[in-house]
Amino acid sequence: MAAMDTSAQSDFARRLAVVANETEALLGRLLGDAPAAGEIARPDRLLAAMRHAVLGGGKRLRPFLLVESAALFGVERQETYQGALLAGAALECLHCYSLVHDDLPAMDDDALRRGRPTVHKAFDEATAILAGDALLTLAFDIMARGEVHPDAGVRIALVAKLAAAAGVGGMAGGQMIDLAAEGRFDDKRRLSESEIATMQAMKTGALIRFACRAGAILGQADAGARTSIDRYGAAIGQAFQIADDLLDVEGDAKSIGKAAHKDEAAGKATLVAALGPAGAHARLDALVAEADAALAPFGAKADTLRAAARFIAERSA
Ligand code: IPE
Ligand code: IPE
Ligand code: MG
Ligand code: MG
Ligand code: MG
Repeated sequence: MAAMDTSAQSDFARRLAVVANETEALLGRLLGDAPAAGEIARPDRLLAAMRHAVLGGGKRLRPFLLVESAALFGVERQETYQGALLAGAALECLHCYSLVHDDLPAMDDDALRRGRPTVHKAFDEATAILAGDALLTLAFDIMARGEVHPDAGVRIALVAKLAAAAGVGGMAGGQMIDLAAEGRFDDKRRLSESEIATMQAMKTGALIRFACRAGAILGQADAGARTSIDRYGAAIGQAFQIADDLLDVEGDAKSIGKAAHKDEAAGKATLVAALGPAGAHARLDALVAEADAALAPFGAKADTLRAAARFIAERSA
């Protein structure tokens, strides 16, 4: 893989840090506010579990992709930028819910997440299930708020696309296929390479692709530009899970903040298992090239997103 241009790389790192810090502060406020209109009370234990799931960790890559995609379409000025940040925070709530449920004993049964105990370890299983439920619904509460975008049509489009990305044809559906592929249910058939790619495009790709699409929706991009950014999102979404599966094999718990060396023993269907580590690295290179090609119409304006694709493929956590 060609080395990343160092100025694009440092610009990327700086911008990611800015969005991550702003997202953290915003999420802190969203999960700390006084009860909203219509809420009778907020149980302390549930709110504490939600805060544990969301605050103090995570790369915040999905909010970053949303904000940077939006910037490509002119959403940069203070007011509109705050709207993109809020939409990114909504997406992060949904992502954190997916992690809380993914870690449950009935799913991947993990004790460590973002270098800390998983929610069901720090609290208990029932609280973790409810914290996930409450984060999923909070995501839509936030996405529907007027501060995201003044045009209700834009907000409805965001809500609808997020629902599709998270649901039976997206993240949740992909998680179902992932668990079934372990052979836990009646179907013990091994997934083909293209079936694994489909499962990964659903369980992980859909939310990442949504992040990129959401930027185009917020920026009211034209159809051609939407197609290009969607092609980019699909490529990096696939790359993201391949890199995650490689980190399970090549990383260690201390640096990735979650258990390593578990997927093979659990019988997970991954492209690393199907192609071998070298094949998986080669696939990553091809996906970064595909992401670059998708961004060609945007020229140098898309350099930060180009750097993001490389980061996703080469990341060590
Ligand atoms: C982990 O996502 C789960 C997958 C989809 C592979 P991230 O690697 O983005 O996790 P955080 O948010 O940075 O902790
Ligand atoms: C899961 O993939 C993705 C989600 C939809 C949460 P993994 O199960 O491989 O994610 P990690 O490794 O636990 O973060
Ligand atoms: Mg999983
Ligand atoms: Mg997992
Ligand atoms: Mg994993």
